[in-house]
Amino acid sequence: MKKLFRLIIMIIMGLVINSCYYDAFPEEEIIIDDPDTPIEDVSYQSDIIPLWAQCVGCHNGNEPPDLRDNVSYNELLNGFVVPGDAESSTLYKTLLGVGAPLMPPGSQWPDSKINLVKDWINQGALNN
Ligand code: HEC
Repeated sequence: MKKLFRLIIMIIMGLVINSCYYDAFPEEEIIIDDPDTPIEDVSYQSDIIPLWAQCVGCHNGNEPPDLRDNVSYNELLNGFVVPGDAESSTLYKTLLGVGAPLMPPGSQWPDSKINLVKDWINQGALNN
């Protein structure tokens, strides 16, 4: 009888210890790469301007918008970008080629770049 009691205690202890062990190591968080999740605080200067390197070949003053580094922000805010509303912005539409000619012509950017521009616009299109 004593032996059985001890066995039961051991089983219970085992369960308790096991459950503590389990609690102490929560499952690893799974990070899902969701393209709809905005990247926090997109910077115009360090994230967006470098993207225009693939556009200035044509947009260098002759073809609006002028996307050269020192003037691109003012150019874009002058009719090509609706701050806070990417869907209504001509710039965003051209990157998708929906409701405007596709830019760069003939080869759509990967989603990662397009979404960066989208997030920047939706975060207020700041000159940050
Ligand atoms: C090969 C030359 C070329 C390149 C590269 C190019 N564009 Fe253009 N872009 C044009 C031309 C030409 C137009 C005038 C519209 C047309 O005829 O398609 C234009 C028009 C635009 C417009 C105005 C569209 C409108 O409806 O008013 C925007 C915005 C634009 N481009 C953005 C970009 C961006 C951003 C890039 C880089 C990702 C880029 N373009 C790359 C030639 C180019």
